[in-house]
Amino acid sequence: MMKIAPSILSADFTKLGEEVKEVEAAGADYIHIDVMDGHFVPNITMGPLVVSAVKKVTKLPLDVHLMIEHPEQYIHEFAQAGADIITVHVEADRHIHRTLQEIKKLGVKSGVVLNPATPATMIENILEEIDMVLLMTVNPGFGGQTFINAVLPKIGEVQRMIQAKNLDVDIEVDGGIDTQTAKICKEAGANVFVAGSAIFGRADRNLAIQEIRSSIGY
Ligand code: DX5
Ligand code: ZN
Repeated sequence: MMKIAPSILSADFTKLGEEVKEVEAAGADYIHIDVMDGHFVPNITMGPLVVSAVKKVTKLPLDVHLMIEHPEQYIHEFAQAGADIITVHVEADRHIHRTLQEIKKLGVKSGVVLNPATPATMIENILEEIDMVLLMTVNPGFGGQTFINAVLPKIGEVQRMIQAKNLDVDIEVDGGIDTQTAKICKEAGANVFVAGSAIFGRADRNLAIQEIRSSIGY
């Protein structure tokens, strides 16, 4: 099942509610929320307050991408704020298995994120615990960066690991996704596509989503 997840990082925050409603009406599947703490990544963005505000204006599942140190200390708050999926960076958590179990206990879907330089093998022993693998196709921290082609083989590697274990795990890609890169990621095995600037950077968000959708044949 293909899914498109607009990242509100590139939205106009003076009218965030309208922005979210606009992409929902245009056929978005998830709302992707980028949480950054200025430590794990060099940028500071939003927290649970924004998640609960967005929750009030949309029925779409909220895909909360935690780019923070000590994610285990905050998962309760994000779950309470209305996160439907919480993804945690494997590089940020020394006890990721425990954190994933905690997320599950909270009744929220869980995912693990890999930076471009982190190998696929890092998730081999936790694949059974998760609903989604998020492969960063840029170094996290900012919207509008250039897609890193070197990540492409990792998409196939992760897909083969999932298939070998006969699991139902989504593969999401995030960073520099547009019509062209979405297509090559889909061919490599991805099925959830985060796009920030390629959607919110366009005047016509409806057209932007339709174009990505048709590039992945969905
Ligand atoms: C980057 C974030 C992304 C970002 C993507 O650290 O995780 O979700 O919003 O933005 P684009 O699509 O502009 O690369
Ligand atoms: Zn993200």
